[in-house]
Amino acid sequence: MSFKVPRGTQDIVPGQSEKWQKIEEIMRRLCNVYRYPEIRTPIFESTELFKRGVGDSTDVVQKEMYTFEDRGGRSLTLRPEGTASIARSYVEHKMFGHPDQPVKMSYIGPMFRYERSQKGRFRQFVQFGVEAIGSKDPAVDAEVIELAMRVYQEAGLKNLKLVINSLGDKEVRDAHREALIEHFQPHIAEFCGDCQKRLEQNPLRILDCKVDAENQLIATAPKLTAYLNEESASYFAQVKAYLDVLGVDYVVDANLVRGLDYYNHTTFEIMSTAEGFGAITTLCGGGRYNGLVEEIGGPESPGIGFAMSIERLLLALEAEEVELDIHNELDLYIVAMDDSAKLKAVELISSFRAKGIAADIDYAGRKMKGQMKAADRLNAKYVIVLGDTELQEDAANVKFMATGEQEKVPFHDLVNYLLSHK
Ligand code: HAM
Repeated sequence: MSFKVPRGTQDIVPGQSEKWQKIEEIMRRLCNVYRYPEIRTPIFESTELFKRGVGDSTDVVQKEMYTFEDRGGRSLTLRPEGTASIARSYVEHKMFGHPDQPVKMSYIGPMFRYERSQKGRFRQFVQFGVEAIGSKDPAVDAEVIELAMRVYQEAGLKNLKLVINSLGDKEVRDAHREALIEHFQPHIAEFCGDCQKRLEQNPLRILDCKVDAENQLIATAPKLTAYLNEESASYFAQVKAYLDVLGVDYVVDANLVRGLDYYNHTTFEIMSTAEGFGAITTLCGGGRYNGLVEEIGGPESPGIGFAMSIERLLLALEAEEVELDIHNELDLYIVAMDDSAKLKAVELISSFRAKGIAADIDYAGRKMKGQMKAADRLNAKYVIVLGDTELQEDAANVKFMATGEQEKVPFHDLVNYLLSHK
């Protein structure tokens, strides 16, 4: 019997994990610069949280959740996204009482959605996201968008497109909703079963339907922008003004609909325009959710955030053939000629490692030639060969592999020598 990873999941093995660490390092560094400290919430939450938070009518809640009953009979769900959990935590920890609002937080962790697996779409994927809860300053919207863009830029991506839209406030959405129902109602029989349900539950989601994407009625549907009231229009104009000041390029797309129910006002997505990236071009999605905290039992606390998966970021890097700047070389490899040399080698590498020098030796019983080859494969910067002579002299030649130059160094000086040549 052989086992494979479950469909839609993957192992991140050595050789790959260095890339993940590099990306996570960029994310963590930028979160420190922008002041979005990390929050860690549980991998599972009560199912009700996502139903309320993400929205009963969304695909995520209706079709994609990994929901199970625990032994105590509670319905729990593996988190399909991070925002609802963080809003819960904001309320549970009474963060609304903090003197500094918005409370800014970031997270990196696995999310779970039972989706059809394809390139760029996994059932377990890792999202990096940020949330700023407790302010409706449009400058925060611009800050969050700039931060998302900067992650991609610092990773080395060039072919990016930022699309923004405004969904307005509740009044706007209600008026638009009525207009959409009026528009689609007479022809709803032409649409898929899901859209027929969406007509009543959330007609905005019809615009986003993958099955009916080609239907003319989608292109001619009333645009939400036409329904923006003065307050919403002015808010959107301010967000754009801040983005202009920051020099962040964007395209306004009135058809940008996000798949989760909590959004209002600003929504945005970042796409890869790289050739060969594949059918799914969205790298990152986010937006404002001014009613979410109230929806789950907290006081009025407007928020905004985004999330991006590391999987898609790496695919975009591949499509653009960007090599990450990964330093993973071994400082030193010790070749041991026999058992007594091996004893000394083990003692020496322990003292090197204690000083932060990356050192390795052979555990496969290889002869000298095999050990030299291993040192090469491991990209060792220096190599020391230990044999009888070295043990007698208490000193060894340190070979700098790039040039082949050697220098004789007493054992007791090796640590200092290597540290000063690192
Ligand atoms: P979302 O659009 O559902 O938004 O997901 C955001 C990002 O997560 C996507 O753009 C994509 O990078 C990644 N993603 C989603 N599903 C998958 C998948 N099956 N495989 C690989 N990557 C995936 C949210 O999750 C919101 N919580 C974002 C947000 C935060 N809005 C406000 N704050």
